[in-house]
Parts: sequence; C-alpha cells; structure tokens
Amino acid sequence: MRQWWRDAVIYQVYLRSFADSTGDGIGDLGGLRRKLRHLVDLGVDGLWLNPCYPSPQHDHGYDVADYRDIEPAYGNLDEHARLLDEAHDAGLRVLMDLVPNHCSTDHPWFQAALKAAPGSPERERFLFREGNGDLPPNSWKSSFGGPAWTRVPDGQWYLNLFDSSQADFNWRNPEVAEMFDDVVRFWFDRGIDGFRIDVPDSMIKQKDFRDHDGSRRVNPYTHGQPELHDIYRRWRRIAESYDQTRELSFVGEIWTGDMDHLAASLTDDELHQAFYFDLLLQPWDATDVRRSLENANGVLRAGRSLAWVLNNHDVWRTPSRYGGGELGLRRAHAAALLMLALPGTAYVYQGEELGLPEVVDLPDQARQDPRWIRSGGTDLGRDGCRVPLPWTPDPPTFGFSTAKSSWLPQPDWFGAYAAAGNPTLRIYRAALAARRTVFPAGGEIAFLETGRDDVLAFRRGNAVSVTVFGGDAYELPAEWGSVVAASAEVTGAVPAATTVWLSAA
Ligand code: GLC
Repeated sequence: MRQWWRDAVIYQVYLRSFADSTGDGIGDLGGLRRKLRHLVDLGVDGLWLNPCYPSPQHDHGYDVADYRDIEPAYGNLDEHARLLDEAHDAGLRVLMDLVPNHCSTDHPWFQAALKAAPGSPERERFLFREGNGDLPPNSWKSSFGGPAWTRVPDGQWYLNLFDSSQADFNWRNPEVAEMFDDVVRFWFDRGIDGFRIDVPDSMIKQKDFRDHDGSRRVNPYTHGQPELHDIYRRWRRIAESYDQTRELSFVGEIWTGDMDHLAASLTDDELHQAFYFDLLLQPWDATDVRRSLENANGVLRAGRSLAWVLNNHDVWRTPSRYGGGELGLRRAHAAALLMLALPGTAYVYQGEELGLPEVVDLPDQARQDPRWIRSGGTDLGRDGCRVPLPWTPDPPTFGFSTAKSSWLPQPDWFGAYAAAGNPTLRIYRAALAARRTVFPAGGEIAFLETGRDDVLAFRRGNAVSVTVFGGDAYELPAEWGSVVAASAEVTGAVPAATTVWLSAA
C-alpha cells in the first residue's frame, strides 16, 4: 500500500496566529479545534503544528523549555488530546514540530549547566568552550545575526546558532540522544502521526570547531556532518517500532543546495522526506523554476520523496515575493497549482489559501522576531508572514479573537482577505479536490517542450500542468487534453501568470 505521507497535502498551523478561543489575542488549541472544519473544507490531508511546547517565546516556540508539555497560553495536554481525536475523526493526520538542535536557555538542563562548573557533566550537554581572550571561541555566526556564542559569568561561552536564548545541544553526548528518543516516543505514544524536524542538518558540529571564513553562504562545519545519519537512523527505528499501519513519518527542514546530500538523508532507513526549499528561492521565471525542478528530479529519480513548499513562517508570502499587488497574487495562484501538480507532499502555510500578502509595514515597536532584534532593525525579520489570520471582514481582529487587538497587529486592509467569500480560497479548494483524481501518486516530472522560454509544462501520468509565466497567451496543444483546473479564468489560450491542468482521460 502506498504510504499517506508520500503525496499528501499538509496545512501548516502557526498556532499563535491561527485562531484565539480564550480572548487573550493569542491563538490556541481551542481556536484550532473550532476551525478544523476550515481545513476539512479546504481538502487537506493533515496539519503540522509549529512548536506549541512551554516556551518563553523569544523565537515563538522554537525555544523549547519543556519538550513533553503544552505551552499554557495554547492549552494543555488534555486539550491537545482532544485536538488529536477530533483531527483524526475528521480524517486529518497531525504532525508536531521536533526542535532537537537547541533548547530554550530556560530549559532545566541549561539552567543546571549554568549553575555547574566548566567541564561538568551538566555543561557537556551543551557546547560550552573557552574564548580567545575576550573574543568568542571561533568565528561562527548566528543565523539571526551576530556571533553564534554567548558568554556566561564565569567566562565560558556557549554556542547558539540562533538566538542567545536558544542553546545548541551537544549531540555527541549520548544523554542528548536518549532524551530525544524519549521525546519522540512520548508524542508517538500520545497518537501523533509524525514530526517536522527543525534544522536537523545542524545538530552535529565539526569536532574541532574550525573557523569558518564566511565565504560560503552555509557554514560547512555546522551543517551536513556525516554523524547526522546515525541520528536519523535512530529515529527511523523508533518510528518503525510502532504499529506499521500508523505510517509514522519524519519530514526534515533541510536548507541545502546539495541534492546528493539531501538524497543521502532520505534513504529507507533515515528521514522519510525533506522540504525542497530550492523552489521557493526562485524568482517568477520559467527558466529558473525549471532548473530547480530538474535538480529535484535527480532526488526523485533516486527513489526519494520530497515535500514541496512555497510559503512558511520563515519567508515572505508568495504574492509579495512575486511582485505584489494583483499581479503578485495572480502569480501566487499560478505557483500554487504548479506546486500541487508536483510528485510528493505539498505544504500550505496558513493564510496562503487566503492569498495573504506579506505585512511589510508593521510598526517597529510591534516587531518581535529575534532576527529583527539582533540585527538592530536592519533585517525586517519574519513577523510580516505571522500576522494573525483574518476570518471575517470585521475589525478590530477580523474574527481572530474577541480581544481588542492581537499579539501582532493586523493592518486595516486585512479584512479584505477574510476567509468568507475569498477568491483564493475557491481556487485552492478546487485545485485540492482535482489533485486527487488528476495527478497520480509518485513519479517524476517529465518536462514537455513548449517552444517558449516563458512557458513551463510537464506531464505526470495522463495529466499535464502548464504554467505561462509571462508574455503572450499560450495556445494549448490539443493532444495534451482538456482543462480540468486553472489558477485563473481561461477561455481559450492561456494568459500570462496562469497555470492550467489538462487531462486526457
Ligand atoms: C527553523 C524554524 C525557524 C526558527 C529556527 C530556529 O528554521 O523554521 O522559525 O527560528 O529554525 O529554531
């Protein structure tokens, strides 16, 4: 039987901004339960919950203080169990977010490490080092800006590849691996269907902490170390120790341009899937997108499974990335249909189905992303794609909350994107419904010649997906079949910024 995770559509829930049931301006599990119908009507197969564990929220949950509980602002374990039951009853799988690279500096292990002496077993769970005089131990940089090291009062430094409130674990210490074995089992025992894994590629650091000269974008000493495969195999064995019919799965957040490396992490005894981020890095250009998909084909051909993604809580939303305004939105619709035609699982980030653009003009004092804070305001950060959803046209919070305001302020124009009557939502629903029948599971991307460098077409099974990026309207060859879904109205030739699906059947 074909496993569900190979060609599902998963809805990403950024819980804090999804729906608030308690009136504090912060989304929560109760709000998600009330709105599960939205996911069912959209036609997705499951949801991924961003981290909802107890956390001081410096990086909104990616700073975990307790891996086995629920953040009180979001609910509790009973509420989580109810959500799981209701989601499963509605036919939806539930993935949690595993954050194994680092924990919050509020985590009891890190607090114990601070109190313990240099060289103690407590410090060995993290990456404490001596500095070079007053300078950090090496030149590594945090992804959020500034050095990747923070000094503690006794003079030692600890490694933090992200915020200084997120301390990197020492994965060469068996205690760390054992702790995460228990965490994975804890949530599998509670009935979840899998994990999205946060920055798994960075868990192991090069042994000698060699300086990185910064000339390459990705620090090779903090990414892609060979010992990672042992950790993936260990988790896979845990997943497979459960009833096979549950088809538990892992999807890794691996940002890499190295396709061989990506494929090597997705063997039958390692991760089930990884996101293919290269696609969302491409501009609205047929040649660039085709090159990206050709690279992906190499991974698919090796028998590996990919997860497609155009939006998430870390990147600018597609309508804004593709130029903004009506044209940006139209391109975003076309990109969505293109993505949904690809072989693998597709991820839809909350608000994407509403056509939300990036909120670029948040007031400075409202911004919360550590990237904004650590860069001294030179990097706008990611708050603009995390603004709470508009459910209705009614201010002040557009159906998000009964509070007067939400944790990140929603702009006045948000009501125009409300779920009710939303045109993007109609397109997504129709595409998701058609996808099940039009595109068979699996396979690779077989490109078709279009005779134009601004038109991209590929076949899967009996169906064809055609995207006209720009230029004149494109006459469809009759032998490709007839239109069964479209990202915009098509009456004859396909206009620019449009994707159509054709089926010969
Ligand atoms: C991942 C998450 C991002 C988070 C970072 C550190 O990239 O997607 O939101 O800030 O890891 O945990």
